[in-house]
Amino acid sequence: MIQIAVLGYGTVGSGVVEVIETNKQLINQKINGEINVKYILDLREFPGDPYADKVIHDYEQIINDQEISVVVEVMGGVNAAYDFTKRALMAGKSVATSNKALVAKHGAELLKIAKEKNVNYLFEASVGGGIPIIRPLNCCITADDIDEISGILNGTTNYILSKMFFEGSSYADVLKEAQQLGYAEADPTADVEGYDACRKIAILTSLISGHFADFEKIYTEGITKITAEDMKYIKKMGKTIKLLATSKKQNGKYYVYVCPVILPKEHPLFNVNDVFNAVFVHGNMLGDAMFYGSGAGKLPTASAVVADIVDAVKSADNNGYGWDSESLQISDIGGAKRSFFVRVKGDGAQAAQIFVNFEMIDAGVPGECGFITEEMTEKEFEDKANSIDGLINRIRMA
Ligand code: HSE
Repeated sequence: MIQIAVLGYGTVGSGVVEVIETNKQLINQKINGEINVKYILDLREFPGDPYADKVIHDYEQIINDQEISVVVEVMGGVNAAYDFTKRALMAGKSVATSNKALVAKHGAELLKIAKEKNVNYLFEASVGGGIPIIRPLNCCITADDIDEISGILNGTTNYILSKMFFEGSSYADVLKEAQQLGYAEADPTADVEGYDACRKIAILTSLISGHFADFEKIYTEGITKITAEDMKYIKKMGKTIKLLATSKKQNGKYYVYVCPVILPKEHPLFNVNDVFNAVFVHGNMLGDAMFYGSGAGKLPTASAVVADIVDAVKSADNNGYGWDSESLQISDIGGAKRSFFVRVKGDGAQAAQIFVNFEMIDAGVPGECGFITEEMTEKEFEDKANSIDGLINRIRMA
């Protein structure tokens, strides 16, 4: 019998228990044994819940129980989760988690401890929910130098942008609706400001580079400034807009950023809509690969966590990968080159003098005009844009 403990009985924690219960025959066959949830750690009581008798409130019970071989950390947050994870690994227990904030911040240290103790620290669910992406990067695309990862890594913002694009609704209206449907949190800041996607691309960048990609150094811009008027221009161009989290290797350094980007029809992420996530990977030998699916939600996320439990059980030492604590050099986004879509008040005469080469877009929005600049660095663009009177918005083009 494989005894496990689940830390946190919220959405993902209850999903983990449900996946194990629903698919127990299949899962047990795969590990050639039987998984049993022995404890569920939570501050709350769950009267009437079928697993109420497993709920405990004291972590010491788990850490001191020699029978527990895998700890599932799905409590979220950093501080207590860090302490509990570290102690579990030190005690020779493997840990499976969906906690991107913890992996992004302390992954290097926790992976090192896991390695020293010959146990696993697995975090497939921390990026892309149920989509396999960590394991493919670790175990499949191992013969390549991966020089680009670009992903739609946040379901909430993809849902909001898709609705705004297809229905012409305002950001505020769609956000409200998403909250009512339970797609967006009551406090949506982490999603809509791009912080969630930033943690995820930091994890992927750490994995492909082998060094710690500090999320605090990643340029991050959310979707809160995108409007229904922007969508009119984007539709007129025959393009779409996505919150992209990108990591690009150039001359041995990485450009890493999260921001809304206007995509052409031929872009592989063009048709990824609603709450779906997708990750585009380019390897120097492989070429292009795409991973697409349910990037959030209780059961897809729990499915990835349980797959990690299976992995931990099947192989006590799975951790010949990860990253070290050396800080990765992240290039200043100011040097990145691209075109920009710009909206200005009036007829754009002043902007025309500043940008010289551009393509006008007429979306029929009164009192303003929109245009696409030629390619230039972010720094050159910012300098020019700062000297325009009446700038309404600017969005990066792919
Ligand atoms: N809030 C996240 C999202 C959940 O919307 O994608 C998965 O990390």
